[in-house]
Amino acid sequence: MRIAIAAGRLEQPIWNWLKSQGLVNGSRHGRALVYTPRPGWEIAVVRGRDIPGLLRRGVVDVGILGRDVVEESPYELWMGPSLGFGQCRLMLALPNDMEAMPGGRFRVATRYPRITRAWAEREGLLVDIVEMTGSVEVAPRLGIADAVVDVVETGETLRANGLKPVATVLDSYAGLVTRPQEQALAERLTAAEEEMGRAACEA
Ligand code: PRP
Repeated sequence: MRIAIAAGRLEQPIWNWLKSQGLVNGSRHGRALVYTPRPGWEIAVVRGRDIPGLLRRGVVDVGILGRDVVEESPYELWMGPSLGFGQCRLMLALPNDMEAMPGGRFRVATRYPRITRAWAEREGLLVDIVEMTGSVEVAPRLGIADAVVDVVETGETLRANGLKPVATVLDSYAGLVTRPQEQALAERLTAAEEEMGRAACEA
């Protein structure tokens, strides 16, 4: 079983969850990116955005990452329910001094072009996507976009950059992800404690 977990702000809560499942005892060592809790089990820490492709290619069996990243990927994947952490929202935010949503076409800076485009279409909004890889909250100030769509957790980043959230684009959370029809692999993870115990007895 090879599991890929998202690096960054989800990593610690994911380790906590893996511990609660009895899947890991300690932590990975220093900057090592692969942890082997038992023979035949590997946990690799990778960028969340790389996990859908790794699943698709069959390089890993299960991913643990945010729904925002899964929905943004071009692949069809199965995602389980929330594991109880990583809750956040993708939101459209406007500069504080902008009264209402622009009536005509407007520019939206985001790291989530697919999600944003699909949402705007559903909402009947005309948007030009300004694709960025991070720091999107700076875009209106730089004059390269009128609005942003990005992850909002506490709202602090929006506030600090003179932006206000006006619409929810996607509710996100961390969950188990597999190729379609391979949910049974996710069940192996949620039953990991039992399985690991059995493996230890058989060893
Ligand atoms: C996200 C997002 C915002 C910030 C929002 O970035 O891009 O910048 O968090 O959080 P807040 O509402 O609590 O201020 P993150 O720190 O996850 O880094 P990333 O851009 O590398 O994903």
